This record gives sequence, C-alpha cells and structure tokens, in this order.
Amino acid sequence: MTTNSPGAIPATTFNWKQARRAALAACAALALATAPAVAPPTAEAQNATSGVTSRTVDMWPAAPHRRPADPYIEARIATIVSRMTLEQKIGQMTQAEIRSITPEQAREFHIGSILNGGGAWPAMHKHAAPAEWAALSGAFYAASMSTDMATPVPIIWGTDAVHGHNNVFGATLFPHNIGLGAARDPDLIYRIGRATARAVRATGITWAFAPTLAVVQDQRWGRTYESFSSDPALVRAYAGSYVRGLQGALNGDTDVIATAKHFLGDGGTWRGVDQGDTRTGLADLIRTHAQGYYGALDANVQTVMISYSSWNESGVGERGARMHANRYLITDVLKGRLGFDGLVVSDWNAIEQVPGCTRTHCPEVINAGVDMVMVPDDWRAFIDETVADVRRGDIAVSRIDDAVSRILRVKLRSGLFDSSPAASAAAMEAASITDAPLAREAVRKSLVLLKNANRALPLARESRVLVIGKGADSFPLQSGGWSRTWQGTENVNEDYATGETLLAGIRRVVGADHVRYSETGAGVDPRQFDVVIAALAEQPYAEMKGDVTFPATMSHSARYPEDLAALDAVSGQGVPVVTVLYSGRTVYANDLINRSGAFVAAWLPGTEAGAIADVLFRGPDGRVQHDFSGRLPFAWPRTACDSTGRAARFPAGFGLRYSRPQRLGALPEGSAAAPCSQ
Ligand code: GLC
Repeated sequence: MTTNSPGAIPATTFNWKQARRAALAACAALALATAPAVAPPTAEAQNATSGVTSRTVDMWPAAPHRRPADPYIEARIATIVSRMTLEQKIGQMTQAEIRSITPEQAREFHIGSILNGGGAWPAMHKHAAPAEWAALSGAFYAASMSTDMATPVPIIWGTDAVHGHNNVFGATLFPHNIGLGAARDPDLIYRIGRATARAVRATGITWAFAPTLAVVQDQRWGRTYESFSSDPALVRAYAGSYVRGLQGALNGDTDVIATAKHFLGDGGTWRGVDQGDTRTGLADLIRTHAQGYYGALDANVQTVMISYSSWNESGVGERGARMHANRYLITDVLKGRLGFDGLVVSDWNAIEQVPGCTRTHCPEVINAGVDMVMVPDDWRAFIDETVADVRRGDIAVSRIDDAVSRILRVKLRSGLFDSSPAASAAAMEAASITDAPLAREAVRKSLVLLKNANRALPLARESRVLVIGKGADSFPLQSGGWSRTWQGTENVNEDYATGETLLAGIRRVVGADHVRYSETGAGVDPRQFDVVIAALAEQPYAEMKGDVTFPATMSHSARYPEDLAALDAVSGQGVPVVTVLYSGRTVYANDLINRSGAFVAAWLPGTEAGAIADVLFRGPDGRVQHDFSGRLPFAWPRTACDSTGRAARFPAGFGLRYSRPQRLGALPEGSAAAPCSQ
C-alpha cells in the first residue's frame, strides 16, 4: 500500500478528502467479506453466450483515449454495492415506463430508472408544460431517495430526445438526423446536442436515448431518417460531436447522459427489415457499423443501447444470434477491447426476442453484458424472476455487481447523487426547450438541391406564388416520426406551439396577399402566378411502421399518388414549378423531378420548415441570402427498386448550388409501381 493509495493516510498533514476515500474503501472491503451467501454461478452462467462462440477481439482497433477510473467514485460504488441486497440490486437494473409505475412503487422496488416512451407524458397530458415534467421527475427522485436502502440511489429518467425534446409540447424539433447528415457540419451537431440537453434538463430529465449511430445500407428501413448517413466516417465524426454536445461536462445543470444506439449493426439488416438480420462479415461490421461507436467512446459516451437486430456473419441460413444475447460483442468487444465502462441498456421489451426468453425473464441477456433492462410494463415480474435466476446460480453475483456498479458509476459521474434534477429544472426558463434560430440554421443547411432548370431558383421576393401539396402547412408532416408521439401521427398543427410551416414562411417572405394555397392544385390556373411551390410529403412513421417491405418499390408516387396528381395539375403550363419533398429517406422520384423546374430534398425539417423559404427566395436587396449547401447523405435511387444506392441517380455527396447549376434532361419514367424482383 503506498502513500498514494486510498488506504494510506500520510504522516504529515491530515487530508480529509483522502481520509474519506480511505474510510469508504475500508467499508467496502469489510462489507464484501460479509456479503450473504448465494449459489456459485453455474457453468452455463459463466459461459453463457447465445449463438456466438468466444473468439478473439484482436481484429477490433483498440479505442483511443480510455479514461482512468476515479478512485473516489470507485470507492463509493464499492461501498454502496456492498450494502445492497440482491432485490435492491435487481431493482436498480430495472427500467420501467412512466405509464406503468408510480413514484411509490419505484421506492418500494428500488427501481433504478424510468423512461417515457414516445407518446407518454406526465398524467398523459399531451400539452404538459416543462414544469409538469419536472414535477413528476421530482416525485420519482424524492421517492428513490427515501427507499430502505443503506445508501439510497437516485433514479434516472431516460427519454427519446432524438431531434430536440420531441415529446414535449412547445419544444423546438430540429431536422431529423438524415437532414443533419446532409449539412455535413459537426459543429452544428455539437450545438444541437447542447440545445437538446438544455431542453431535456428543463423538464427534469437527465438521460437522452440519442444519438442513433446506424450506418444505413438499405433505405427500405423505416428508421433510415434516424441515421446521419451511409458514410461511416461522417457518422463517426457526428457521434463525437453529438455526444459532447449532449454530455457537456457530464454533471452540469444543462448536461444529459447520451446513448450510443443501437449496438451493433441496426442499419445493416437484410432488405432493411427493422429488427432484422445483419448479414455481413466481421471486417465490414467493424469498418462500417462500428465507426459511430468509436466516435462516441472517444467523446466519453456513458450509455449504449443494444439493437433488436441480429448479426449473421455467415450471411446465409438461419438468422444470426440476437444482439441482445451476443456476449462476444457486448462484453468481450464493447466492454473489454473498447474499454466501455458505462452502462449497457436493452431496448423496449427486446429481451423477449431472444430464443427461450420472455419479456420478464432472460438471464442470457444479463450474462451477455446488458446492465439495465428496459421492461416498460412487466418490471415487477422481471425483478422476481431475475432474483430467482441469481439464487439458482443462472446469473453470477459478480455479473450483477458489475451491472449495478456501472449504473452507479454513470449516476455518480452525472452528479445525480448531488441534487434532484427537478431543482435545477425549476431554475431554468420554460423557453429553454426552444431554439428557433439554431433549428432554422439546421434546416437551411440540410436542404439538397437536385435540379434547377433554367435557373428557376432563386425566386424574386415580388413573386406571386401558388402553393400546393399536403406538406405545405402541416407540422406533423414536416416533423415526421418521434414527434409528440411515437409515430408522429395523431397530431394536428395545434399540437405544435412554436415553429413555422413552409406556407407560413412563404407568406412571411412575399406577403400573404401574394400567396394562394391549394393542397391539390385542382381547379387553380397556375398561369395567374409567377411560380408554383409544391410541398410533397410522406405520412409520419417510426421503426417497423416505416419499412418499405419487399417487393414494394422505393417510388414516392407509388405510395403517395396524390403528390404526383398535384404536380400533374400545375406542371407543363409555362409556370416554373419548385418542388420541395419531405421524406425520411431518398426515394425514386423521376416522375416528380420531370414535372419540376427545381427539386429540393428537404428530408424531415422539424418545426422550423419555414426557413426553407429563406433559401428559395432572394433577400430584400435582391441578392441570394442563403445558397444551398447540403449534400446527399445517401445515394438517390436511379430505379424504383434501388434501395441501396448501387445504381444511383445522384451519388451520396451530390448537391447543386446557385453558383453551380447543372443541366438535367428528362428522366425515364418506368412503371414505378411494379413489384421488385430479387
Ligand atoms: C424503441 C427504440 C429505441 C428507443 C426505445 C425507447 O423501440 O428502438 O430507439 O430508445 O424504444 O423508446
């Protein structure tokens, strides 16, 4: 033992801090020696893997910048763990949803975490104000700090703040990640992370389930828009920026814990099937799908969420082992080789998808390395069954202690033990959930100009404008999924207290008396106007509900014929048509592009879509105020069945500028609705 070790007290001056650490370490040693006896781990528990044999991790580049442990925090962890009962430990590893648990139950069962799924609000009040969120957070925190534990452990609340604090009424929604990928601006991503963290903390929540680090390979996936790009290097750069933005100094009043998700290979499933089978070799898994995690680890990300998908290295036959039970990737690689010392959380009821498991019982997942289990509803049964697993020796106590230690480490690092997040939230202004200027900058930078024939753009401010299309005046359509609700559906404009639609933006720029809006364009003579602006859109979706299921095509018109009909009503009459498309992926749109003088991919811009008008129109001085700068984050399909970018109409990275126009002739319009073959 040296004078530097926590156990020694130097002979010269008495150092209280060191003494405190020494005392804590001594308590830990004593308590560990007297821990209650539990059956030794069974052989299965020791080597539990599911479908993946143990193998070398040498192919994985070591993660840079591993941070040394904080001996003070580690001593506190050891002491707290040593004084916890098995039931308290399993309770700490349980994450329940706010619709299925009360603060009193969280206290009674020592629950370590809660979450609000998309579409869950305090008292199910959709328009709950930040103060209502903070009050509920305060109630759960106070309950967690009044348990019968020797050392009460504060509860942590996680939320899907994936493009701003998207569940919260009045919050600014930034463009979804696909649009941010088009911006190619890591500094912008950092600032969006900072703004999102501030908004989340204003509601008393300290954990954001973001960023998604999928590197999408097949855009039929319903979650393509949650991905920044098909370019691993961009995802890696963005991962670091987003995590640093969200986490800040980790323990400040406007910092939240970030989540690198979904580990690993969520964006690489066969045919883009959500929660599907990622069929690729280890080398590709590392160089494509793991790059975001290197960026996130470099930024000291504190949590990782596991993917529903499975990894099928052979690429043929039965689907591979579910990621949730993949001990090689979670424990040997992520925690071992890459040195991740935060907590690993499972996805929503994902454990039930592991062969032989149910949503309340899955020792395989904990043995694989999952530390916190998202059991939104059946949390009580999960606790009982997992306690029994440990008592039977199906899960080693050492694994439980490691999981609880990781949870405590994240909570201690984030300052959660020091004070209630509700207290700091109360000190923040309600406006902390908005940042329109930043969102408008992000919208402008996200736009990708694919066509600009005869310099249809930029538009003069004196233009008389006919606006058509279902997307022109719809907050739900411009925001997409994960907006106020899980799917982004069941919303109306009144569910958005702040922001600007494209129609409102056009009216702001040219004056309402110079603008007419007709959703379908039917019966309106476009020749009465200088320009037609068509805002086309997808209906909102999230996760599997957004999948384009084989053999369906990537054609936008096949799914939304009303948009082609709207263009048919106004095109070819000598009036330029500027089309703005809201979509969660690149789509086959030769028919729409042919009917447009200019064509803009606007992705899912969020609450400040009106900023698009500031790029389409010249400034008051007649000069271009904002040129296009966005570049495709994914390849744009050449054919209706091209969902992987192999036969691109426009390659990833493509994007026109006012200063760099490009001629584009008529595009072939095959039968886009015909089903795709293999
Ligand atoms: C969902 C998503 C995940 C999200 C979690 C909690 O199913 O897969 O991204 O964080 O559940 O809502």
